Amino acid sequence: MSLLIRRCRALTLEAPPGHSGPRTGAALGSVSIRDNVDVVVRAGKVESFGESLTVPPGCQVIDAHGDLLMPGFVDCHTHLCWAGDRLGEWAKRLDGVAYLDILKAGGGIMSTVRAVRETPLQTLTDLVRRRLDTILRHGTTTVEIKSGYGLATDAEIKMLRAIRDAAVTWPGTVVLTALLGHAIDPDLGPAKFVDRTLHETLPAVHAEFPGIAIDLFCEDGAWTLADSVRLLEAARELGHPIRAHADQFTSKGLITEAVRLGARSLDHLEQTTPREMEVLAHSQTFGVGLPITSLGTTTVAHRAREGVPAFSGATPSIKFANLRSLVDLGGRVCIATNANPGSSPTYSMPLAIALAVRFCGLTPDEAISAATVNPAIMLGFKDRGTIAPGKRADLILLRHSDHRELAYELGGDPVRAVIVNGQVARYYAT
Ligand code: NIG
Repeated sequence: MSLLIRRCRALTLEAPPGHSGPRTGAALGSVSIRDNVDVVVRAGKVESFGESLTVPPGCQVIDAHGDLLMPGFVDCHTHLCWAGDRLGEWAKRLDGVAYLDILKAGGGIMSTVRAVRETPLQTLTDLVRRRLDTILRHGTTTVEIKSGYGLATDAEIKMLRAIRDAAVTWPGTVVLTALLGHAIDPDLGPAKFVDRTLHETLPAVHAEFPGIAIDLFCEDGAWTLADSVRLLEAARELGHPIRAHADQFTSKGLITEAVRLGARSLDHLEQTTPREMEVLAHSQTFGVGLPITSLGTTTVAHRAREGVPAFSGATPSIKFANLRSLVDLGGRVCIATNANPGSSPTYSMPLAIALAVRFCGLTPDEAISAATVNPAIMLGFKDRGTIAPGKRADLILLRHSDHRELAYELGGDPVRAVIVNGQVARYYAT
């Protein structure tokens, strides 16, 4: 079955002449627009572009009426496998309790860990599957999903199986990451927990899921710099790509170490020092900005209590990743939702784009490249993230004709049609 998308404005994200690989520097802001084209899709791939093409027999036709067709979003950092909820914690945060203080008191990530451990595999799989449908409606066609709420060998494996099983019936593509160093189980304490992660959990994950990325959270109350380096080294030794949550609340010096170890990405970067931003920019490691999280972890106390001023209407101080400097220094930049129940309750790549432009210093064109072509390359895909003959037909049709509206609108639900592997997965005829 073939598909013809008629009269669209195609945002192809083709590489500018002389540029290949991840988009950096000026190339990040070069999205390539082709006006009033027809796009033919066959056997799951983009076949051709042209003007007023004839409709092949039996071909499904979507008339774009001049609206934008672009590659589906590649959300390269999510925690979409979780159970329970964090509404109680959120109420505490509205009372002025900080995200890290809740974690240090055994809540936060650890409360989701307890819920996940108690949830059967099939229930977890169903939860992930429903969330996959939700992100598809928001235009995400490739997604990375981390474990990290198991933090015990059997529970981490259960999470990875749930993510893998949920992906089977989803038309898009799911990339698994084992977030083995997400927190420290307080029942074991740091020394025993790190030891078990290195010598039991990592080998078990390696045996069943060889080659998936290994991730950790280097932070006060989570993994120390020294233990982070040990886990990254052990994972690398086994041939796993390595990623890390770095500099979310405090700068720990992980960037320099992880770059030295050849990390695939370093994510968050809200507190990265100018010196370490340079180290990152001059490496092959991608920096992943998660701007929704900066909002998600910032709350104002509604009422005054000891040591906490009452809500006054003043803007609280919020720290975003300085992606402008990373781009200007020549670094590789992606943005992602960080969808999770604690710090980033969202499913929306369009919202990540809108905030990256407002608060991380990216232009709309740069943010779009950082949400499509760059994360596709970061996750190891050469067949998507752009629209070109021979590429996988993961495409979205927006109800906008000017791509800047994607960044301009806040919470606007701009996706009119989603095409995954050449099949129409969602279509609103408007
Ligand atoms: O990237 N910071 C660590 N991990 C997630 C939060 C997970 C949670 O709070 O459940 C993040 O923000």
